[in-house]
Amino acid sequence: MCGIIGYIGNKDTVSVLLDGLKKLEYRGYDSAGMAIVRGDRIIRKRVKGKITFLEKELKSSPIKGDYGVGHTRWATHGRPSEENAHPHQDCHGDIVVVHNGIIENYVSLKEKLANQGHTFKTETDTEVIPHLIEQHFKGNLEEAVRQAVREMEGAFAVAAVSAKDRGKIVVARQGPPAVIGIGRDEYFISSDINPLLSYTRDVVFLQDREIAVVRPDGVTFKTFSGRSVKKEIEHVAWNPVMIEKGGYKHFMLKEIFEQPQVIRDTFKGRMSLDTGSIYLDEMGIAENDIKRISRAVIIACGTSFHSGLVGKYFIETLARIPVDVEYASEYRYRDFIPDEKALYIFISQSGETADTLAALKAVKKKDLLTLALCNADSSSLTRESKGVLLTHAGPEIGVAATKTFSAQMSVLALFALYTAQIKGVLSREKSIAYIKELQRVPHKLEIILNAAEAVELLALDFLSYSHFLYLGRWVSYPIALEGALKLKEISYVHAEGYPGGEMKHGPIALIDEKMPTMVIAPKDRVFDKVLSNVFEVKARLGTVTAVAFRSDKEIAKSVDKVIRIPDIHELFSPFLTAVPMQLFAYYIAAARGADVDQPRNLAKSVTVE
Ligand code: AGP
Repeated sequence: MCGIIGYIGNKDTVSVLLDGLKKLEYRGYDSAGMAIVRGDRIIRKRVKGKITFLEKELKSSPIKGDYGVGHTRWATHGRPSEENAHPHQDCHGDIVVVHNGIIENYVSLKEKLANQGHTFKTETDTEVIPHLIEQHFKGNLEEAVRQAVREMEGAFAVAAVSAKDRGKIVVARQGPPAVIGIGRDEYFISSDINPLLSYTRDVVFLQDREIAVVRPDGVTFKTFSGRSVKKEIEHVAWNPVMIEKGGYKHFMLKEIFEQPQVIRDTFKGRMSLDTGSIYLDEMGIAENDIKRISRAVIIACGTSFHSGLVGKYFIETLARIPVDVEYASEYRYRDFIPDEKALYIFISQSGETADTLAALKAVKKKDLLTLALCNADSSSLTRESKGVLLTHAGPEIGVAATKTFSAQMSVLALFALYTAQIKGVLSREKSIAYIKELQRVPHKLEIILNAAEAVELLALDFLSYSHFLYLGRWVSYPIALEGALKLKEISYVHAEGYPGGEMKHGPIALIDEKMPTMVIAPKDRVFDKVLSNVFEVKARLGTVTAVAFRSDKEIAKSVDKVIRIPDIHELFSPFLTAVPMQLFAYYIAAARGADVDQPRNLAKSVTVE
């Protein structure tokens, strides 16, 4: 996903933009650039590859300017190259634009503009934007932008500057987020709040189909239809320290180690051990509406889909209602049967995933009950859903989701208990027992994290393998999927997660000494069946590494290696089994020298389809 940044104020524009681009790196990118306005000229610098190349370029030929915009590009249309890197310009270089999103009707716009005499230099969809603005430009940049965006279809967060109408940055949003940072006589534009936090925590979130005009003396807002709007300034609680590495080699490792605190923060104020009650007043859905639901449909992507699968076991076991879990990218195209008695739960750490938002839109069209489970307040997902339950994981910089996964499972456990209570299917005593067990999770995670070195040593024995099989049954099946995804996405090693019972239906043909198997094997209701999987693998010369309870004396006799975790109630074992899988993937990726925090081809939030 691309990132846009902009600055107007008294600081050195180039250094503020460079600093901002570095704080956008975690979103994933393959090229970068910036444009600075100085007097009646606009100077552009663009590179293919990392921001350090841009920094070198700027060191060798420095530029000074009054204000400007910058961009990290994650290629959608047109290969990664300097020519395709943003910012893009109009015919004469008088109007320059940075953009996050996709212009779906760019081909027809490009044809029309070419017929009007515009010449194009790149393969990108973005390049039509400065030319479209140029076509409408009659001296006023915001009016030209307003006319241009009304012709554009698709998703875009755009920032534009002009040498012909100086002293302003015009920002327009339809889809991907755009945030305005309000400093002291200085203003910032960004795709998310991270780059702003070292300068200001006062921000304004642009809503869909809104335009901001940012000048050195203030910001004004209007809609695409030209109506002026008044916007609230919000104060962001996150502080800059939260987005630094804090001595860890990678953000991902830091975030793995933050999980005990994240779970404590997510539980805080939402459960009472004395009464056994769960408090989700902030959810914004009335108790009676929850009482009325007869089923739930969880819709998400990637790791959020995996936490949804864990949530299925929590909700079905505790609240005794059926739960379907769907990939958002599939559900959005389905002729699904609308169910007035269902609750549609959308899980997304970013709240900006295009497929998840599109599925939400399709569900809302049928006027159904929706609940967002999200880590980003004021995101598109939280704004568009009826109910909201926030995870309190803080900013997650590593592209691979870790602490947000644990936070999502925490909220799903709370929601399951809450629904069980509302529906009267869980006694006070049982609620108290479950809450007690949940409150022990953070400390048990700390025990696992204190033994992280053992996982690192074990991981180093697996550096030469190129294929892995992850097996889990019942509530451990989602953890097998998640463990495999973690390894794939950060180390580029192939891994497949499977329900253990599926082994004999195909995957067992893969087993040999070159295909290690990871088995999630807490002592639960399906342990004996998992053990039979172990024997099947061993009989075919496969090596088996098991994640197992500390009290389990059996497993070690049958497997090659064991990663021990503290015992826990079988239903809540995912909280503990996920972390060794995260660590295993991390140590293999780090040992392979992979770009752990910004894996190739990946983005922190997939805001384009
Ligand atoms: C997980 O490690 C990946 N980063 C990816 O699968 C991610 O979970 C997915 O893109 C969904 O993102 P979201 O939670 O922000 O919607």
